[in-house]
Amino acid sequence: MTYASAYAAWRADPEAFWLAAATAIDWVKAPTRALNASRAPLYDWFTDAQVNTCWNAVDRHVAAGHGSRLAIIHDSPVTQSQTRITYADLQTRVASLAGALLAQGITTGDRVIIYMPMVPEAVVAMLACARIGAIHSVVFGGFAAAELAVRIDDCTPRAIIAASCGIEPTKVIPYKPLLDAAIAMATHKPDICIILQRPQLAAEMGPRDIDWHAAQAGVTPAACIPVPGNHPAYILYTSGTTGAPKGVVRPTAGHLVALNWTMDAVYDCPPGAVFWAASDVGWVVGHSYICYAPLIHGCTTLMYEGKPVGTPDAGAFWRVMAEHKVHTFFTAPTALRAIKREDPGGTLPGQHDLSHLQALFLAGERADPDTIEWAQKHVGVPVIDHWWQTETGYAIAANPLGLGALPVKIGSPTVPMPGFDVQVLDEGGHPTSPGTLGAIAIKLPLPPGCLPTLWNAEDRFVKSYLTHFPGYYETGDAGYVDADGYLYIMARTDDVINVAGHRLSTGAMEEVLAAHPDVAECAVIGVADEVKGQSPLGFLCLNKGAARNPAEVVTECVALVREKIGPVADFKRACIVERLPKTRSGKILRATMAKIADDQPWKMPATIDDPAILDEIAATLQTIGLAKGHAT
Ligand code: COA
Ligand code: AMP
Repeated sequence: MTYASAYAAWRADPEAFWLAAATAIDWVKAPTRALNASRAPLYDWFTDAQVNTCWNAVDRHVAAGHGSRLAIIHDSPVTQSQTRITYADLQTRVASLAGALLAQGITTGDRVIIYMPMVPEAVVAMLACARIGAIHSVVFGGFAAAELAVRIDDCTPRAIIAASCGIEPTKVIPYKPLLDAAIAMATHKPDICIILQRPQLAAEMGPRDIDWHAAQAGVTPAACIPVPGNHPAYILYTSGTTGAPKGVVRPTAGHLVALNWTMDAVYDCPPGAVFWAASDVGWVVGHSYICYAPLIHGCTTLMYEGKPVGTPDAGAFWRVMAEHKVHTFFTAPTALRAIKREDPGGTLPGQHDLSHLQALFLAGERADPDTIEWAQKHVGVPVIDHWWQTETGYAIAANPLGLGALPVKIGSPTVPMPGFDVQVLDEGGHPTSPGTLGAIAIKLPLPPGCLPTLWNAEDRFVKSYLTHFPGYYETGDAGYVDADGYLYIMARTDDVINVAGHRLSTGAMEEVLAAHPDVAECAVIGVADEVKGQSPLGFLCLNKGAARNPAEVVTECVALVREKIGPVADFKRACIVERLPKTRSGKILRATMAKIADDQPWKMPATIDDPAILDEIAATLQTIGLAKGHAT
C-alpha cells in the first residue's frame, strides 16, 4: 500500500479503514462499529469493544512465544548502569505491581499519579495501571511541587507511585520532598504513595508511604482486567493558554489501534527491532513511543537516562545507537542542536557503527533546516520531521516510511496521515489557498486515539478546541500547505511556547510573576534560542513607588517561577520595563514584542549570568522605548 492509496482508502471509508487496522489488536470482545457519533461533535471509537492495553503490550507477546525477547533496555549513563528486561520478566514485574495496587484497594477507573524519572519502573507502573484499568497520570519530574499539587487536585488519585530521586548530570534531584510538599498543598489527599527507593538518595518514609518492594511482597499477581473501548487509558496534562493545565484524556481502544498502525506505516519498525525515543515518560512522546507503541508492536524499547551532551560527551547518542543496535530513533530537534553545537563538524557519528539505524525522526518543535541538514550529512539515514501534539498522541503529519518514503522537503513535516483531514483556515473559517498562512484545523471527527475530551472539563474541551471553527478541531498551530499538499507548521496561535521540545504556557508564567508584590503588570514571550528553539523572556512593570533594585526583583521573579512551575520552565531572564505595548483595547501585543525581540542581535545564547548580553537587551529596549532600567 502506498501513502496515496492508504489516504484514499481512509477517505473512502474511515470506519472500514480503522476496523481493518483494529484486527492487529487482541480483543476480549472485538468492536462491531468503529465510530460512535451519537454525541457529535464529541466522538468515541470502538465503544462496544472490551480490551486490555497491558495484555496487548506484554502478555500476548509472551503467549506467542516471545517471552525471551527484550522488551526494555535501560541505558543510564548518569548511574553508569544498564538493565535488560525480557517480555517474560516484564510480565512478572507488571503483574506483581498491579497485584499490589489491587491489594491496596485500587481498581478500574481509579486514578494513579506516577512521578518518576527515566527508570524502567516508570514503564512498569504505567503498564500495571493499564493491567487493572486504573487511569494513570504521569507528571514530568522537572515540575515543581505546586504543579504536581494542581494535578493531584484535578485528577484526585487514590495512589501516587514515585521514586526517591531523579538524576540530572550534575545533581541528584530529591523527588520525595517535592511529592510531600505537593500533597501538603493539595486539597485532595491520596490514600497511599508507593516509593521506589533509589540507591543514589533514599527518601524518608511517612505514614502514607509504602516501599515499592514491600508493597509487592506476598501479593497475588494480577490478571489483565478488560475495559470498554472508550475507557480512559491515561490523563496527561499539557499547557494551555492559562495557568491551569489541560488534562488530555487518552481512550483505550483507539490508542491501541492507532499506535500499532503507526509502528508499521509511519516508522517502518518491525517487531523485534529496537525503537528509541529519546524523550521522557512525562511527555506524550514518552507515553506513546517509549512505553506503549513499541511494546504493543512487540519491539524492544530503549529507555535512556541522561542528556544528549555531557553524559559523557556529545557522542552519547551515537554510542547508544551502536551498542543497542537501534533500528528507529526519535528525538526533538533541540537534542540534535545541542549535539551539533558540540560537534559542528559531525565527526562523532562516524566513530560508531550505525548500520542498524534506518531512520531518525524529529518532533516536538519546528525542525530548523540547519539541524536537519547536519543530521542528513553526518548520520546518513533519512531524517524525518513529523508533527503532532499531546492531544493527538501520534503524528498528524509525517513522511510514512512504511508506505514508501515521499520526497523530503526541508521545513515541512510532509503530509497529513490517514485519519487527519487537515485544513488551513482564515479568520472566517474558510480554507486558504496554497502558500497562504492560516490557522491549522482538523475536520472532525479526529481519528481513534486522539483526545475525546479533557478530564473533568468537557466545556473547556469544547471551548478550547471545537468552538472557534465549528466542525473542526483547532490545533493552536498556524502554517500553510504548499501546492504539493505538504504542510508547514510555523507558529502557535496561542500563548504556548516550546522550550527544548517542552510545551510551556507563558500565561502560566505570567500568573506567577503577577503574584510578586512589586510587579504591577507583566508579559512573557518566547524569544529565539540557538539550542532550545525558544526561551522565555519576561517583561515586568513595577508598582509605582516600588523603590527596589531592578536586578533584585528580577532574581526574585526567576526564583518564583522556578519554585511555582519548576526548572522545566527554564525562566532565567527578565527585564524591568516602563510599560508594555498594548492595543487600544488594552491587550498586550505579545506577538509584536516577540517580533521585536527576535529581530534583535542579542538572540542567544544568554543566561542570567550573561551581563553583557543582558545589558544589550536593556539598551535595545530603551531604544524602542520600552525599557526603564537594568535587565538581568
Ligand atoms: N527532573 C528534574 N529536573 C529536571 C528534569 C527532571 N526530569 N528534566 C530537566 N530538569 C531540569 C534541568 O536540570 C534544568 O535545570 P537547571 O535550570 O537547574 O539547569 C532545567 O530542568 C531545564 O532542563 P532542560 O530544558 O532539559 O535543559 P538542559 O539544559 O538540562 O538540557 C537539552 C537541554 C536540549 C539537552 C534537553 O532539553 C534535551 O535533551 N531535550 C531532549 C528533548 C526532549 O526530551 N523533548 C521532549 C519532547 S520530544
Ligand atoms: P506537545 O503537545 O508538547 O507535543 O507540543 C505540541 C506542539 O509542538 C504543536 O502544537 C506544535 O506547536 C509543536 N510541534 C510539534 N511537532 C512539530 C513539528 N514537527 N514542527 C513544528 N512544530 C511542532
